[in-house]
Amino acid sequence: IMAEKGGYKHFMLKEIYEQPRAVRDTILGRVGQESGRVFLDEMQIQPKEFAEFQNVRIVACGTSWHAALAGKFMIERLARIPVEVDYGSEFRYRDPIVNPNSLTVLISQSGETADTLAAQREAKSKGSRTLSICNVMGSMISREAAGTLLTHAGPEIGVASTKAFTAQLTALFILAMYLGQARGRQTPEQSQDLAQELLRIPAKLEHVLSADAHYEDLVKWLFKATDFLYLGRGIHYPIALEGALKLKEISYIHAEGYPAGEMKHGPNALIDESLPTVVLATADPEDEASVLRYEKTLSNIQEVKARGGKVVAVATEGMTDVTRSADHVIWVPPTRELLLPILEVVPLQLLAYHIAVRRGCDVDQPRNLAKSVTVE
Ligand code: G6P
Repeated sequence: IMAEKGGYKHFMLKEIYEQPRAVRDTILGRVGQESGRVFLDEMQIQPKEFAEFQNVRIVACGTSWHAALAGKFMIERLARIPVEVDYGSEFRYRDPIVNPNSLTVLISQSGETADTLAAQREAKSKGSRTLSICNVMGSMISREAAGTLLTHAGPEIGVASTKAFTAQLTALFILAMYLGQARGRQTPEQSQDLAQELLRIPAKLEHVLSADAHYEDLVKWLFKATDFLYLGRGIHYPIALEGALKLKEISYIHAEGYPAGEMKHGPNALIDESLPTVVLATADPEDEASVLRYEKTLSNIQEVKARGGKVVAVATEGMTDVTRSADHVIWVPPTRELLLPILEVVPLQLLAYHIAVRRGCDVDQPRNLAKSVTVE
């Protein structure tokens, strides 16, 4: 068993450490290093169709749904197409507005989730083209799609999804670039810059994983907490949701992800010294809008501190203002705004992992949960 886990104590930890490889393999052969052009093969959807879709729906469940929320930011930013995100379990109960002008994207690690599959059939019955982002070749959802962007995370054993999630974010970024190029929304220079930044992500993930972030010391003051808040703004809000889900799944601690700016509309009332708040405070130092967003998040940290709360921040190396207000900072390297999620989710996975281990939980097989939910 230890051998199967490659020397790691749990599959989840092994899979967290496999992320540089999972992301590298998902990029491989799809992005031209020099040209920045994206190539998608195995599609029954023609490039011309990609240029003409009027809207995009993304449907998924669980962690894949969080990838979908992040994908909305990527596609809207790079391709300027409106994107709507749905839960698989909700989609077909509201007579969704999809038609032949819609591209419906299904995201599923297993490719077998019953609700996502049913949503796909609903979309197809209304004439929508469907594209799947799946981790299992030959799975139901991929077989029923007009095209599949396979994530190359490899088999994921831990019930709590980790490497499949970062591979999904990678695939969505590639899809967003592709749509942006097909629709003439990206200059060659922009494409080259994004491609080069994307190709640097695996090495940056290695760096995040090799940094000694003292998780064991950090969790000493966190593992007894009964509630956690996770905050993020913009594309970092879906990552806050994912961080909270990881903690819930494997440590059984109640956790909530919230948009940082919504704190004053309710959650501020919860803040006291017994409620740790984890804040995504990363930024692209070269992007003015990203830095502005980061500064707003910094004031949210100060507001939590002013109310006696405890803050763990995930922040960008070289942007040290955050150390003045956060109690603990975990650093990740800088990259483009839309790629930051791939780096910043890793500390949240490790935080949940170490808290769960400290609480003696069954990390790979959490109670009441299944790896793949094939019934409604
Ligand atoms: C289950 C798993 C989650 C996963 C979700 C969706 O709840 O425990 O980790 O995110 O299903 O699964 P899928 O295979 O469709 O991505």
